Amino acid sequence: MNKDEFGKSFKWGVSTAAFQIEGSCSAEGKGPSIWDTFSSRKGKILHGQHARVACDFYNRYEQDLDLVKALHIGNFRFSFAWSRILPEGKGTVNQKGLDFYNRLIDSSLERGINPWPTLYHWDLPQALEDLGGWTNRDIVGWFSDYTDLCARSFGDRIDHWMVMNEPMVFTGAGYFLGVHAPGKTGLKNFFPAVHHAVLSMAAGGRILKSANSQAEVGTTFSCSHIEPYSQKSWNVSAAKRADVLFNRLMIEPVLGMGYPDEELSILKGIRKYMQAGDEDKMAFDFDFIGLQTYTREIVRYSLLTPYLHAKLVKAENRKVPLTTMKWEVYPEGIYSIIKKYSAYKQIKKIYITENGAAFPDELRDGGVDDQERLSFIQTSLQQLLKAKDEGCPVDGYFVWTLTDNFEWAEGYHPRFGLIHVDFNTQKRTIKSSGKWYGEFLK
Ligand code: GAL
Repeated sequence: MNKDEFGKSFKWGVSTAAFQIEGSCSAEGKGPSIWDTFSSRKGKILHGQHARVACDFYNRYEQDLDLVKALHIGNFRFSFAWSRILPEGKGTVNQKGLDFYNRLIDSSLERGINPWPTLYHWDLPQALEDLGGWTNRDIVGWFSDYTDLCARSFGDRIDHWMVMNEPMVFTGAGYFLGVHAPGKTGLKNFFPAVHHAVLSMAAGGRILKSANSQAEVGTTFSCSHIEPYSQKSWNVSAAKRADVLFNRLMIEPVLGMGYPDEELSILKGIRKYMQAGDEDKMAFDFDFIGLQTYTREIVRYSLLTPYLHAKLVKAENRKVPLTTMKWEVYPEGIYSIIKKYSAYKQIKKIYITENGAAFPDELRDGGVDDQERLSFIQTSLQQLLKAKDEGCPVDGYFVWTLTDNFEWAEGYHPRFGLIHVDFNTQKRTIKSSGKWYGEFLK
């Protein structure tokens, strides 16, 4: 496999997210986000860990960008922490927050690295959560104002924008299951959060595009290749319902298809939160769709799972190789995912904006020989190339992630980085996977 086989326009990158790396969570005027609050609550994060320092990226971004450059990675995806820029989520602007992201963008450009910001990677300002967060329809206006401010502040140097990161995960885990911030549960929170996230995504897209029609504007979705546990009809239909929830719910309204609630009727509950004209407002013609995929899911019928009547068969119980996240090691899934989304005629271009794997890396003799991650990335790329060669409009690949970091509710235990971080000393060590990626991109 050779980089040239992917074509000249193919975007090679690495992805990160503000809360997972920055630390400095109350420095220089930053307001608290829901993740600051959530991770300070007892029992929410594995081993009681928090992200007050994380990778100290707020202070070390230049060294980390040097590493991005050393690995010949041309595109750096990061996110803006909304409450660094607007401590209360709206109203007063924190100039120091804008300054930080201006420095980050300028430092990237100085090194020949293209900055790819995401406006929202889950860290909602706590002040807005206090007003209901994603369950309050006013958030569409708050998010639009924040988007507009970012477009005006940074837009002169940004060629590629992403509005949101994985709305299904932050609404599902944060507003239905309660295992992510803000820790809310139930359909009465989930449904309005879904609808307002969808409206905000489309609104954000419109604002960014009208601020600069030359910039490529996209948004990102989580997705997994799903297979039924067996070909029994009840398992096949359970897998279809899971596919609606995990892979289709968020993207289809954006593509102008409305919510796929005919195939999962519980979702009709979202209609309660819809107003006249919303169908149009939910749709936006994004220049690209970012797909983020890590594993596959095996689904079987379950009488006891409310609403969905389907459950994921845990990879642990399937005697398959596992990552630290207990996800099946299944890099082949990226192929079916690209094929699946390429079938939507509305999608013009796909970038894989996250893909990677966590393994129990060990620092030995000054290095980390992470052969499993290396082979995961290589297989993923071969599968991506196969889909591309078959005509799928996939034109970019971003590894999740640059450095080991704060993996949400799992704390620092899962290591996803191309670069190892010793969280006691903040020392960075490029892993074998990072060295390979750098050589490959050279
Ligand atoms: C994604 C998320 C990232 C990262 C990754 C690995 O869902 O966008 O922030 O945590 O998963 O679990």
